[in-house]
Amino acid sequence: MSRVFVAGSINMDVVATADRHPRLGETVAGREVLYFPGGKGANQAVSAAKLGAPTTLIGRLGADAFGKQLKAYLGAQGVDLSFVQKTEEAHTGTAIITVADADNTIVVVPGANALVGVDDVAAPIFAKGDIAVSQFEIPLPAISAFFQRARAAGATTILNLAPAIEFGRELLDLVDILILNESELGLLAKRDLHDTDDHARFTEAARSLQTGRGKIICVTLGKRGVLALVNNEPLIIHGESVKAVDTTGAGDCFVGAVAAQLASGKTIADALTYANIAASISVQRMGAAPSMPTMEEVSAFLRLKSAKPSN
Ligand code: RIB
Ligand code: NA
Repeated sequence: MSRVFVAGSINMDVVATADRHPRLGETVAGREVLYFPGGKGANQAVSAAKLGAPTTLIGRLGADAFGKQLKAYLGAQGVDLSFVQKTEEAHTGTAIITVADADNTIVVVPGANALVGVDDVAAPIFAKGDIAVSQFEIPLPAISAFFQRARAAGATTILNLAPAIEFGRELLDLVDILILNESELGLLAKRDLHDTDDHARFTEAARSLQTGRGKIICVTLGKRGVLALVNNEPLIIHGESVKAVDTTGAGDCFVGAVAAQLASGKTIADALTYANIAASISVQRMGAAPSMPTMEEVSAFLRLKSAKPSN
């Protein structure tokens, strides 16, 4: 089994639940305030680890109470934290999240995540076949250096293009598998993909991101499933109909699951199908990292699904 390395953010998610989201300038009464481990990097690492992959996280925490809690939580999920540093210079990354009607709004204050640099990613030793995963909540120079080192060792690189930010397109040359959602695809490909269900339009937009040698591009479409370009041919994976309570971290669950499956030697088509199911389990529970399913939970879902006459 190969190893999954995730270079990315670690946040405490401070979540307020309410019956509906406030409008700009409005105050609404909430129901509960909840603290969940989160951050895209940490979420993806927890997803991969719970699905059975040996997983190493590279990132930074502040020297504060949130940092302590997150370290204890991540360690208990089986994530290797040898390359997670504590820094005195900033607070632990914090996300202020509102959840209403299964939809969320998020303000992320990066804190220590903004201090992840090229030196942070210089130590881990990759082997051929390992999987290197990153996203856009740590500085771009660290992501480039991480992918360069991974590539040089024969590892596969996965970039989750979230959240959507401006970046130099040279980075895409270091990526084997690009994972993004439909709004990120719209922004990056400069296409209006709102209110469309047309797979041909998603395929065309995804193709416009191909640079040089073919990469795999996966577009997550929420409850409608996944559209991927593999060898430049579209591959469609249908969504599962489940009742969502909180979609925070569903994309991260998907990314971590793809990485874990590839690390265990699965094909990309199998990995995407499995990840789609893992993500559909995660949306049925509150919180980001704590909603990631175990291997046993995915197996149980698959057994139930095959026992049903339709779906
Ligand atoms: O992708 C979800 C994550 O984004 C949350 O856990 C929050 O911390 C933000 O980073
Ligand atoms: Na969730």
